[in-house]
Amino acid sequence: MLTSSPLSSRRTTIAAAPGAERAFAGGFGSAIPYPYEALQLYLSKETLEFHHDKHHAGYVTTANNLLKDSGLEGKSLEEIVKETYGKNVPLFNNAAQHYNHSEYWKSIKQNGSGKVPGRLEKALIETFGSIEKVKQELVQAGTTQFNSGWAWLMVKDGKISVSKTGNAENPLIQGAVPILTIDV
Ligand SMILES: [Fe+2]
Repeated sequence: MLTSSPLSSRRTTIAAAPGAERAFAGGFGSAIPYPYEALQLYLSKETLEFHHDKHHAGYVTTANNLLKDSGLEGKSLEEIVKETYGKNVPLFNNAAQHYNHSEYWKSIKQNGSGKVPGRLEKALIETFGSIEKVKQELVQAGTTQFNSGWAWLMVKDGKISVSKTGNAENPLIQGAVPILTIDV
């Protein structure tokens, strides 16, 4: 576990799997929890490497710099995201992109069974009618997101829904909690 930097929290701290001990310089709490070549069929090693080591790492470095003297040091990443929204745009953008990417790495995995855990499956079928419908709605959300953003499966007030957000925005600022996300 890498918890030494300011931008870490329980939800976004991932213990690196063997062969994937690639934390960002500075040791903040996130790393891809599988080797870069693990998703080869879908995402190439180069794509994953670039996305994590350059793209995501850049957000973290900038967020950690902006966090200094922001008055928010010591807060969790989720709190920082919520408290900076609409108030401190540069810190929000970088902290939220760190949060979103961390959620994304957890949303995909090596040798996934494709099976949805029982309780979630039940709730999804109750809400959407079928798992296939949820997938369709997620694809629809992702493909209709204009410019960069995210497609989400989220819970708000006990209700599951599919949504999309632009740029760094995410369900936290809507008072919701994400279940999974897709980087668009
Ligand atoms: Fe990204």
